[in-house]
Amino acid sequence: MTINYAEKIPNNVNLAGERTLQRALEHWQPHFLNWWQEMGPSDFQGCDVYLRTAVSVDAQGWANYGAVKMPEYRWGIFLADAVPERSIGFGDSIGRPVWQQVPGEYRSNLRRLIVTQGDTEPASVEQQRLLGHSCPSLYDLRNLFQINVEEGRHLWAMVYLLHAYFGRDGREEAEELLQRHSGNSDKPRILTTFNEPICDWLSLFCFTYFTDRDGKYQLKSFAESAFDPLSRTCRFMLTEEAHHMFVGETGLARVVKRTLEVIKELGTDDPAKIRAHGAIDLPLVQKYLNFWCSSSLDLFGSEISSNAAAGFASGMKGRPDESTYADHVLTDVNLKLDTPEGAQDVPMRNALNEVMRESYLKDCEIGLKRWNRLIERAGHAFRLALPSTRFRRSIGSWVGLPVDPQGRLVPREEHARRLYEWIPSEADHAFVKSLMRRVVEPGKMAGWIAPPERGINNLPVEYEYVRLN
Ligand SMILES: [Fe+2]
Ligand SMILES: [Fe+2]
Repeated sequence: MTINYAEKIPNNVNLAGERTLQRALEHWQPHFLNWWQEMGPSDFQGCDVYLRTAVSVDAQGWANYGAVKMPEYRWGIFLADAVPERSIGFGDSIGRPVWQQVPGEYRSNLRRLIVTQGDTEPASVEQQRLLGHSCPSLYDLRNLFQINVEEGRHLWAMVYLLHAYFGRDGREEAEELLQRHSGNSDKPRILTTFNEPICDWLSLFCFTYFTDRDGKYQLKSFAESAFDPLSRTCRFMLTEEAHHMFVGETGLARVVKRTLEVIKELGTDDPAKIRAHGAIDLPLVQKYLNFWCSSSLDLFGSEISSNAAAGFASGMKGRPDESTYADHVLTDVNLKLDTPEGAQDVPMRNALNEVMRESYLKDCEIGLKRWNRLIERAGHAFRLALPSTRFRRSIGSWVGLPVDPQGRLVPREEHARRLYEWIPSEADHAFVKSLMRRVVEPGKMAGWIAPPERGINNLPVEYEYVRLN
């Protein structure tokens, strides 16, 4: 269905046919816009940004490009088309029709899942709100803003579900989503990773590489949900999410590429010399990867989880790419989990967070391979790597244990002493921050990052993607 842009809230859910819901959402809309002005990108609100906006959810319409001022972006409600006669694909009710309404017994659990997902969307906009001031190029600035407006739209997606299916408590939750703020001491965002400050672009690239990818996996598991409106919402969100991870993967590749150029120029890979030249040494890139990867791994929850089992049994939340598995019921299978007390057999349904984390990590490897290929081709032995899933965990069976990035238990004293060999220290952050000076001449790049291989939507890299006025 085409999106109706004549309405106050663009949508493809026939909002005009449901007056009460429409009014409730029109009441929430100005609160959202106030939040955007206060907590969204600092400055730049009057600039023309070359953004994509969906005009329909099919392949032709979802990516329409043009100059837009961010506050005028058409945030709206877009669901992927319904799959006719879709049935539940896993769990105890496999084969039964999917739900068009929320079953009473799952109401509070489903609401919690939707609120937790919804909370991450505006949180990331808040985390990134100051980055525009230190952009390495107009191309990057535009990408940041594209991500920001889409995360705003993802908030709309979850708020629509809360308003349409959860009555009064849904509407209250929608308000709360604008009241919690990233890093706020009184009302922080729900998940730790979304309260971590993102003060520099290297962190942004790691965040979009690792944390948006966690988002991808959460959305994939909701796309399998028996609650059909949730599934349809998430299927459309996934098309937008791909760009966020692209920004992370290519951003990190460009950092690596630039560093390799500097190594060649200077004839040394001595980190101090690389830094003195205004580039980011590869061991420092590794520390950033260690920090953001380990932080994002926590988002999948404990290895052993009764919530995960209940979500699967009921049909609320499946495995990402559920159809690629052979067994969709999982009643008499176990998974061998590696715990500090040794190997442990866990009923598969209780181990699904770990299953999801494993497939996520496989997806994370793709970028690592590409970046390492650049390093290898330049003739260096150094390799970037993902940290062990046991490293720096604040949830699950490895919580708080002194483990190094390779997954080895080390004495506590050694762990404390060496922690900042593994994740960025204050000094590392300060150094990266010192590189963050804004470059806004069309086509120009900051000295710590290589230009992208191509521009947006077949435009040249030199295009003026953001018109600062
Ligand atoms: Fe999102
Ligand atoms: Fe995202």
